[in-house]
Amino acid sequence: MNARARGGAMAFTSLALPTLVWILVAWLVALHFFTGWISSPSAATARSNRRKDRDNPVARLSDLLRYSELEEIEEIPVFSVRSSSGKKHKKSSKSAKSAISDDPLSELSPDRRLFYFPDRNLAAVDPSSSSEEERDFFFPGREWRDVNGLPIQAHGGGILYTPETRTFYWYGENKQGPTYRLHKKSSARVDLIGISCYSSQDLWRWKNEGLVLKADTTNTSSDLHTSNVAERPKVIFNNHTRQFVMYLHIDNANYSKASVGIATSSSPLGPFTYLGSTKPHGFDSRDMTIFKDEDDGSAFLVYSSQSNSELHISQLTPDYLGLSPAVSRALVNQHREAPAVFKHGNFFYMITSGCTGWWPNQALLHAAESMLGPWETLGDPCVGASDEFRLTTFFSQVAFVLPLPGLRDLFVFVADRWNPGNLSDSRYVWLPLTIDGRLDGPPEDDSFEFPMWSRVSVRWHRKWKLPEHWKNASLDDDEGEISL
Ligand code: DGJ
Repeated sequence: MNARARGGAMAFTSLALPTLVWILVAWLVALHFFTGWISSPSAATARSNRRKDRDNPVARLSDLLRYSELEEIEEIPVFSVRSSSGKKHKKSSKSAKSAISDDPLSELSPDRRLFYFPDRNLAAVDPSSSSEEERDFFFPGREWRDVNGLPIQAHGGGILYTPETRTFYWYGENKQGPTYRLHKKSSARVDLIGISCYSSQDLWRWKNEGLVLKADTTNTSSDLHTSNVAERPKVIFNNHTRQFVMYLHIDNANYSKASVGIATSSSPLGPFTYLGSTKPHGFDSRDMTIFKDEDDGSAFLVYSSQSNSELHISQLTPDYLGLSPAVSRALVNQHREAPAVFKHGNFFYMITSGCTGWWPNQALLHAAESMLGPWETLGDPCVGASDEFRLTTFFSQVAFVLPLPGLRDLFVFVADRWNPGNLSDSRYVWLPLTIDGRLDGPPEDDSFEFPMWSRVSVRWHRKWKLPEHWKNASLDDDEGEISL
């Protein structure tokens, strides 16, 4: 090697060595990320899910719901709200327009309008006179009228679908009477009128089928006397006895009877025969629901007990008229009420509210592999709008979660926006409840905390409607999913 070449080699060695090291390091880092991206299970899962979503009409349908014209999010003013323990949350902003007064029933309270009915002056949803543009749209919180143009009276309700007639039946509390309080400090109430039934084939136009269980106006010792309370009726169908079975919360005016009532009928349109009430297994029972697992016909009673501090769950007997011996305790010391159960794949989900009377509070989602538990609390399923709106379940309290025939990942979240100043003018908040993720696939990217469960979201929409062709869903295919 000549002197020039030797000099060049030395210069290369002395000057380029650090550069070479940096290139090597950069190359290794790049290689790490590249191979990580190629082999990471979460990235692979995300890609596989996206691919599945593209190929799967059901997934496309729920994407449509989340991302299309339904995204009309209403901005809500900031003000304080109560936590489920009844304590107020701190105001999140000095510019808060108003704090909710302690007495929302007071005519003087500015919060009555602000808190319960921010859209009070908006037109009612009225199938008897709606314009073409508003047809089939749900407007959560607006007055909702039946096909005869009268406000729907079906509060705290539940909905039964009968596939034979492709008809939905909505059972709920008829509260069409004056609101009053027995004593200054007692809960607002309306005298018991009975349980209404409305029928519909599209979930938007509802026909009033009248009272299917009527109050007793004369016999003061009857559970159904007008002075008592009958709330949260739910109806299921027993395939063996061919009976429609209604369960409901039976109470006296001060909620100390804390019982569950049962009524049956051979027709979804009633009349229902009242069989009586009981404290299940001797326990106090207030807010409740019943859930029928359509996969095997088993049915369950879920109720708030031990002074609303926990839930109890018992399986119904095969005729649905009694309880099996086992009582399962769930959400112990969590103080939850208004349970609404639904099933997705092999898992059970439940949405509950806190216990603040007619006041709205935060919803929570729970999940379990078996109806009898153990139940795990997954958090607040509400998505969108402002913090305050979510912390109050969009100013509402869950009543029911409705599965839609032919749609696997889409349910309707059915809730009440109570108006304790005028309970008969309480409104309905119906929103799409969507389920992401596949139970038969690998876990999702962000499933570290709750690897077993799918993501359940109740997303706020000022206005929304069901996918165009859902009513014509072909139920002939094996999976019972909609064909587009
Ligand atoms: C909350 C319950 O969920 C309602 O059904 C009703 O019982 C009210 N409490 C009464 O204050």
